[in-house]
Amino acid sequence: MDRRTIGAAALEVGAVGLGCMPMSWAYSTSEQRGEESLRTVHTALDRGMTLLDTADMYGPFTNELLVGRVLKERRHDAFVSTKCGLLVGEQHIVANGRPGYVKRACDASLRRLQTDVIDLYQLHRADPEVPIEETWGAMAELITAGKVRALGFCAVGARADRRAGTGIHETTIRQLERVQQVFPVSGVQAELSVWSREALESLLPWCRARGVGFMAAMPLGNGYLTGTLTTGGGFERDDVRARHPRFTAEMMAANQPVVAGLRRVAERHGDDVTAAQVALAWLLAQGEHVVPVPGTKKEHWAVENGEAAGLALTPGDLAELGALPPAQGSWE
Ligand SMILES: NC(=O)c1ccc[n+]([C@@H]2O[C@H](COP(=O)([O-])OP(=O)(O)OC[C@H]3O[C@@H](n4cnc5c(N)ncnc54)[C@H](OP(=O)(O)O)[C@@H]3O)[C@@H](O)[C@H]2O)c1
Repeated sequence: MDRRTIGAAALEVGAVGLGCMPMSWAYSTSEQRGEESLRTVHTALDRGMTLLDTADMYGPFTNELLVGRVLKERRHDAFVSTKCGLLVGEQHIVANGRPGYVKRACDASLRRLQTDVIDLYQLHRADPEVPIEETWGAMAELITAGKVRALGFCAVGARADRRAGTGIHETTIRQLERVQQVFPVSGVQAELSVWSREALESLLPWCRARGVGFMAAMPLGNGYLTGTLTTGGGFERDDVRARHPRFTAEMMAANQPVVAGLRRVAERHGDDVTAAQVALAWLLAQGEHVVPVPGTKKEHWAVENGEAAGLALTPGDLAELGALPPAQGSWE
């Protein structure tokens, strides 16, 4: 698989990564099986999908434990990207960016991951109670201590920006400018996909101009863009899509033109090319600094997603995909 470089620290990863979140969190939890997830991670590494994206809050904690079981055996094959700064309660999630907490969280992640260094340590959420420079300063000290190789920033707050009527990533970019004064950002992680293209406006160019890597989260539209979900099929109670406005039967039907467009392009490239692969190839075409991290717990889907790295879309394909309507249905 082709390799791409993430940010100031010049870290090399496979062009397509593996989002490990669905193995322990968020989607179809009844299908979460440890042994299959382990096989999935091993197969992804075998195929050059070196970037394993996890977080302490996935599970919570169990996702890192799972990744750690693989790292124990083959640390040198993997690029480990994890996150801190969010705590999971019974019915809520809260940010914690206090310096002492961040340092303890890193030590705990290192233990769970069974490694002595994290390749990319990302701030999952900025804590509104703590000046972001203090949180970032503590993360930078982890680099000095040799526990972390590079720092990443998860771009959230987009919904608040939209409500405030400003550009969707304006708050994020202001925060990024502030943390850059403390220590260089190597990677930004934010939602980007064929049906959620907002990051193309300002965030992706911001990263490109500064040599910062961009990890595309939710590149498959939480599974929708693969065309494998049944409209009105329902979701398990604890599946995030059961409460997601884009996944009501009405919105799933309304967004079908997006899937149809992906399928049209896929068909032009061969019978075995899928809508998911076209969605990922579209992301890879958005810039050399973009690394999609499709999430899956299933080995065959990890293989399929990895093979998207070899799919070259034509200018005509890209124009057609760029003209598809954005998603209908939002959290607002
Ligand atoms: N920083 C943040 O705040 C943040 C937020 C969200 C996500 N992320 C990261 O980004 C990664 C990707 O996002 P995501 O997992 O939420 O969404 P996603 O990658 O857009 O979609 C994941 C869903 O698609 C399904 N899927 C994957 N490959 C498929 C294929 N080839 N064919 C059919 N279905 C397929 C998976 O099914 P199965 O579950 O059955 O495998 C899963 O339900 C996460 O794993 C996480 O690491 C970060």
